[in-house]
Amino acid sequence: MQKFAAVKKELIPNSAARRVFGLIGAEMGLIEAEFERQVSSNIQVINYLGDYLRASGGKRIRPALLVLAHHAIDKGERTESVIRMATVMEMLHTATLVHDDIIDNADIRRNRPSVNARFGNQTAVLMGDWLYMSAFETTTLERSLDIIDILTRLTRKMTEGELIQLTRIGRLDISESEYFDILKRKTAYLFSSCCEVGAILGGANEDERDALRAYGMDLGIAFQLSDDILDLTADSKDLGKAAGSDLLEGKLTLPLIYLLEKRPELKPKLEEIMFDGEYRTISREELKSELVSLGLIDSIKQRATSHAEAARKSLAVLGESEYRSSLEEVLSFVTDRTT
Ligand code: IPE
Ligand code: IPE
Ligand code: MG
Ligand code: MG
Repeated sequence: MQKFAAVKKELIPNSAARRVFGLIGAEMGLIEAEFERQVSSNIQVINYLGDYLRASGGKRIRPALLVLAHHAIDKGERTESVIRMATVMEMLHTATLVHDDIIDNADIRRNRPSVNARFGNQTAVLMGDWLYMSAFETTTLERSLDIIDILTRLTRKMTEGELIQLTRIGRLDISESEYFDILKRKTAYLFSSCCEVGAILGGANEDERDALRAYGMDLGIAFQLSDDILDLTADSKDLGKAAGSDLLEGKLTLPLIYLLEKRPELKPKLEEIMFDGEYRTISREELKSELVSLGLIDSIKQRATSHAEAARKSLAVLGESEYRSSLEEVLSFVTDRTT
């Protein structure tokens, strides 16, 4: 717990998040220790890279969700499984980031050189694979086909999301529904799976399990909508990764889809930014003020808020508890997020 508090202090962005992490601080500390154990290996290079990734931190929102979902049900003591599966979810998330940074050619992650930038693509591919497989190997200890089903489907969907996104790179004719399809696969299913696995380990009935799965889905959508806003409005230091990179990587996110609906004449300019890989035709600042003055940032925030509201409603099925309240607080953390 001590260790967790020391590592996390500057990463915890607001008081709601601080309260939530306070409530489950002990478990989060155990998850850090489990993560450390999971990535330790007598193969030196794996040990080194595992530690590089683990020590780079991150918000740890996915394992926190698993723990909270579990406690919000909690019809039996499954501490060991909860810690293990929460760690597995963070390992899967880490694997997706390692691979994603190769795909996106990203140099910075969590304010450090990405694995691909620091150690090369070959090493990053293999380390990502190792993390995936170690996470699955650990999952088999649960002897739960239900959980294996969720995680294999999830991993397939995430990979499909990245592949579909690749086919849309550089395209300015992305529809809103294509955008949401990619977003759900890339981000929301993982949030949803964390909550569902937490529910299963808590001994949830079908209604409770459905509720937590739905909560995670809406939360994940709100999270990625916020991420797409932040890419356009925040700075790299706060994000720990290159800001403004979505457009440079050829990805048209929802704020920009809306912008092109209102100002179709901007299409060639956005196209040039994607093509050149730099903000020459319009500066990032100009783009941001355009989005703000047309009310588009507010309208995406509103969409994120309505998903957060839907998520809150899903929780109504669960009995009242401080853990359910914390799941509600996570929603405001996500809609107000700055990192
Ligand atoms: C990054 O997730 C990937 C997205 C879904 C945008 P996080 O923002 O949770 O990353 P870390 O784990 O805190 O670094
Ligand atoms: C990240 O996708 C989500 C994953 C499935 C890894 P992005 O490429 O949009 O996210 P960042 O901006 O690199 O974190
Ligand atoms: Mg990326
Ligand atoms: Mg990507």
